[in-house]
Amino acid sequence: MSSRQAIHRLDYTPPSYLIDRVDLTFDLDDTQTKVTSRLIMRRNAGVAAGSPLVLHGEELRLESIKLDGAPLPKDAYQVDENTLTIADMPEDGILEIDTLIDPASNTSLMGLYQSNGNFFTQCEAEGFRKITYYLDRPDVMAKFTTTIIADKAKYPVLLSNGNRVGAGTLDKNRHWVKWVDPFKKPAYLFALVAGKLVVLSGTHNTQSGRTINIEIYVEPGNLDRCHHALAAAQKSMAWDEERFGLEYDLDTYMIVAVSDFNMGAMENKGLNIFNTKYVLAKPETATDVDFDGIDAVVAHEYFHNWTGNRVTCRDWFQLSLKEGLTVYRDQEFSSDIGSRAVQRISNVRALRTSQFAEDAGPQAHPVRPDEYLEINNFYTMTIYEKGSEVVRMYETLLGREGFRLGMDLYFKRHDGQAVTCDDFRAAMADANNVDLEQFERWYSQAGTPRVSASGVYNAGAQTYTLTLKQSCAPTPGQTQKLPFHIPVAIGLIDRRGQDLPLQLVGEPESTATTRVLQLREPEQTFTFINVPCLPVPSLLRDFSAPVVLEYDYSDDDLAFLMAHDSDAFARWEAANTLACKLIKQLYAQDAALPLAAPDNFIAAYRKLIAKPAGEALDPALIALMLQLPQENYLLEQLSDVDPTRLAFVCQSIKQQIARELRQELLAAYQQLNDGTPYHYNGEQVARRSLKNVCLDYLAELDEAMVGSLLADQYRKADNMTDRLAALKALVNRTGGDGAETQLADFAGQWIDDALVMDKWFTLQATSRRQGTLGRVQSLLNHHAFSLKNPNKVRALIAAFCLQNPQHFHAADGYAYAFAAEQIIALDAINPQIAARLASCFNRWSKIEPKRRELMKQELERIRDHEGLSSDTFEIVSKALAG
Ligand code: TRP
Ligand code: ZN
Repeated sequence: MSSRQAIHRLDYTPPSYLIDRVDLTFDLDDTQTKVTSRLIMRRNAGVAAGSPLVLHGEELRLESIKLDGAPLPKDAYQVDENTLTIADMPEDGILEIDTLIDPASNTSLMGLYQSNGNFFTQCEAEGFRKITYYLDRPDVMAKFTTTIIADKAKYPVLLSNGNRVGAGTLDKNRHWVKWVDPFKKPAYLFALVAGKLVVLSGTHNTQSGRTINIEIYVEPGNLDRCHHALAAAQKSMAWDEERFGLEYDLDTYMIVAVSDFNMGAMENKGLNIFNTKYVLAKPETATDVDFDGIDAVVAHEYFHNWTGNRVTCRDWFQLSLKEGLTVYRDQEFSSDIGSRAVQRISNVRALRTSQFAEDAGPQAHPVRPDEYLEINNFYTMTIYEKGSEVVRMYETLLGREGFRLGMDLYFKRHDGQAVTCDDFRAAMADANNVDLEQFERWYSQAGTPRVSASGVYNAGAQTYTLTLKQSCAPTPGQTQKLPFHIPVAIGLIDRRGQDLPLQLVGEPESTATTRVLQLREPEQTFTFINVPCLPVPSLLRDFSAPVVLEYDYSDDDLAFLMAHDSDAFARWEAANTLACKLIKQLYAQDAALPLAAPDNFIAAYRKLIAKPAGEALDPALIALMLQLPQENYLLEQLSDVDPTRLAFVCQSIKQQIARELRQELLAAYQQLNDGTPYHYNGEQVARRSLKNVCLDYLAELDEAMVGSLLADQYRKADNMTDRLAALKALVNRTGGDGAETQLADFAGQWIDDALVMDKWFTLQATSRRQGTLGRVQSLLNHHAFSLKNPNKVRALIAAFCLQNPQHFHAADGYAYAFAAEQIIALDAINPQIAARLASCFNRWSKIEPKRRELMKQELERIRDHEGLSSDTFEIVSKALAG
């Protein structure tokens, strides 16, 4: 177990030794795998002679150690829980180290472990040290060869990074395979897979005329679910060549699916390892959202080959260098293969619900953090999603071509290196000859900036003056913030809903109808001239910066923007703001008063759904605009929150919309539910999303007709998207039996399908109905559930604790106690997953005092638990300090 000692970014020192080559041999065994390592090492030039060699190693049994062929005497090295130190290491030498490890009892899923009888590794961030003694840091890059020896019948497939260069048989029914990776890499990109797997293969022809083999390895029986992932890999390769001029650099690209995995997937060189959730899909088992997720994750891992692997991170404080950039790239890929507007809105929604909460809470940290106890806790929304927004702002400021120039220079300068976020920023600045000094604050300052806007129209002068002010609240360890460099994209809309041409004072002519204003000062004004009438400003178009934008819109302005803004994001945002405003008003009013949305609100929604066919928006956009804001998002905008009342207000509005728009919703549903056989394509996905949003509203109506409509869709659906949407609506329906019949039917059909059963668990964990906590508790004993499998924990426990605020925050506090028990139990099995779950207590100070006290007690109980991991300790201690 790692110690509770903070690591600081500014303490970085270069490694005292470098490793040029590593030759590994694995003799695989359930409980006694022998790892033989041969390291060709030399002292790092410029590092003081005499500094010792300190190798990392955890939970290893050291069998032997030799230097340049001779056994190392016992007094020449020192071993403790985390290191092996050689005080008098020569300038260069060959170290040979044999260790034994026990994969069968490895439940952390870091290092070498087993899943369904097969072997897998996960080395990012610091898992390689659980395999052998090594300089397990990303700035030590070496060329690896890997020989795997294993029982031939049990482990017919033996995989590692790079190219397969040899294979043979041995005695006792064993065989071996040897792999050579021609690219040097840090240890976190090492991977090994051994087991009974089948493969789906395909190819991709590159622009330079090479043929790449793509291989997807899965457990037998799953081959019919790999085609979408294969197509995603092919599309990703073509896209990266087209958009960034980046080709794959090995002859074979392998993806392996594993059911026990801590995260989504891992970009190991040439051998990506994926959570089955992001590989296996066919229409009967996977939803449209699942198919989108596979495209995004396959693209993400594939894109890491350049942004992460060829150019990697100097240290883990630079994690966003690869993750923020790669998320930006996968979001762009998804925008190009699907609907850019839908992609943007979905990404912003996730960012604002989860990352803004992180930035406002006790775990807030900069995109490039300054310290950590446990690096695993820093695979966060801030590093990934805010990091991606930071990369997107370069594109917004420099233009797409300018951004590409910056990327080209970044690869030209740093291919084969381990670098920093500053190096990336320097490439962007130098390639475009611009000053990006102030932009650095996006990396160093935590917290979400607020930009408040106000406008003054001067009818006589025909000018419109926009004033923008920025501020940023204190975050842990950072009380004062300096102004950020913020791109604010804006438009001005006239009374008829037309965009006005924009011309700033001093400009000879107008250039566009959307302009990116650069806000660098605490307060700045921008004056537009030749503005013929009082405009409605459209602010932060396309969400041009990860900020909270405040402008005092009237309800009429918002309804106007909802109907007219040419920017799809801003149009959706207007709907979202209107709904947030209403819900907050109703939440705050006297609890005895009736809850009712005013007519103009209902009218704006009616207009959305009842557009004449000719003017209709993309159905997917209408679906997004119709959806009410998430309770977790609203909670962030309130204080001393009573989550029970908030849930009640949200449900009341939803019911009112359903009642008042019954006819329109039903008409839209019937028109969209046209019996077309399922196909996963943009048009159908959009239509299904609107259809199922309509269904979700209709389910609020206590009518027998609706009951049979839901039951019909459940029964007749030829795909999981529609079936699950119907089942979810049934499960949440007030009255009725909570869909007991259909839930039993569903489990009966899919009991042997782990990914489908995850959906079944989640539906029940996120249910609105009474008794949900009791249900979740009894499902812990369901034979398809296991605390050792992260997907199951996420599907049932995390879904309840993080996505069901109404029941998680039940006034009796039983759910808090439940969460604490589960976190403590999980901590002994898998600290990474336990720590993530513990984040359900992060926002305790937002909640009203009685519940707040109960949450605090549970946090203290977890913190004081004996033997708690440093992972969970870091999260709960920060939560308590915040
Ligand atoms: N680098 C992976 C990605 O984002 C993340 C990852 C996968 C990971 N598995 C992990 C991080 C385990 C920490 C621990 O693509
Ligand atoms: Zn990644």
